[in-house]
Parts: sequence; C-alpha cells; structure tokens
Amino acid sequence: MTTGATAAVEAWPHLYRPGDGVAMLALHGTGGSEEDAMALAAAISPHAAIIAPRGRVVEGGMQRWFRRRSEGLFDVADVHARADELAIFLRDAVEHYGIARQVMIATGFSNGANMALALGALHPDTVDRVLAFSGMYPLGDEDVPGPLTTTKVLLLNGSDDPMAPAASVTRLEAQLTGRGAEVDRRTRSGGHGVTSDEVRLAGEWLRALETSHQPKVR
Ligand code: MLT
Repeated sequence: MTTGATAAVEAWPHLYRPGDGVAMLALHGTGGSEEDAMALAAAISPHAAIIAPRGRVVEGGMQRWFRRRSEGLFDVADVHARADELAIFLRDAVEHYGIARQVMIATGFSNGANMALALGALHPDTVDRVLAFSGMYPLGDEDVPGPLTTTKVLLLNGSDDPMAPAASVTRLEAQLTGRGAEVDRRTRSGGHGVTSDEVRLAGEWLRALETSHQPKVR
C-alpha cells in the first residue's frame, strides 16, 4: 500500500465492505447515494468486497457520474474525463484494500450503469465484468473500439424504458460484442428500474462465472 494511493482513496467519499468473494464497484443512479449502491450490490452478492463511491457531478442537487445536456443526451467528453478519474480511483482503491486478486465487477443502476459501462469500455484493465441495470450506450460516435475479449457483460433492461431506449441498448450490445466482449442481454417487461427478479438473475450470473473467470492481471 502506498501513501499516495491511500490519500487519493480517502479523498473520494465512498463506502467499503470487505469480502472474500468477487469485488464490486457499485455506482448509484442520478440522485442516489453510495448507500443505495452498496445495498444493491450487497443484495446481489452477500460475500463480495464492495466499493461504493459517490458521483462527483451535481445536477440540480442530485449526484451523478457525468454531465449531460438533457435527458439521454450525454456530454461525451465529460463521460471520458469522469471514467478516467474513476479508473484512477479504482486502481488506487484496489491497491489500498488489497483486493487485486479478486475478480472486479463494475455495477450500477441508470446513470451508474452508464458509468460502469463507460469504465469497462474505456479502461478494460480495471474491470473484469460489467453488470448494468437500465443502462444504455454512454459513448460517442467517434469512440475507437479496442479489444474487450476478456470482459463479460450482463445487460438488464425494461422493454418499455424511455430513459434507456432499446435502440441504444442494441447499439451498446453490438459495439461490445464487436469488440469481443461476451454479452448476456436480458429484457423484461416494464420501464426504468431494478426488479427483484433481476437482482436474483444478477446473483446467479455472478455465481455461474465465479469458478471459471480469473481476474485480469492488473
Ligand atoms: C438518468 O437519469 O440517470 C439517465 O436516465 C441516465 C443518465 O443520465 O446517465
């Protein structure tokens, strides 16, 4: 553990729960908190080590992960900048908490899902899997695909979700698959949210991969 990593981790408000299973980076949605994200991740995996930081962008008093111009219209440069700073935090936190040997899953709901997806796409060395609840395509047209061959992604969406439209999820799925990621996409009826069935499914997805998936060398 270096002093630099410790200072950087302590400077970013977050919750940490130790665990001996997989490790999870849990990201809240717009207007949510690290407590919400921790609770969702803990419901998915009772044994995971969980890091739940607080989004650094504030919009109308609500915490978020990156700026947007309007609903669904993202400030892509800010998505990149925020993903970059989150990747640095995550590398430091992994070192600080001594969890480099645990498989790392980035998970989140809504804006947190979009940031988890951006992090997985832009900094694949930091994340082994992405588990996205009501997420959508978070990047721009110009993003140059690099390989994601060791990344596994579970996309959980409602079929009637105006905040995460099916066309955007299809674009996301196509790009991830095109870059070599293994994508499992499940669509339920209904809109934006997280259902108890999805939490159960996410837990099963994690358990099924637990024995077979080794963490990337970080
Ligand atoms: C939200 O309100 O969080 C949006 O639907 C998703 C986003 O802005 O990333």
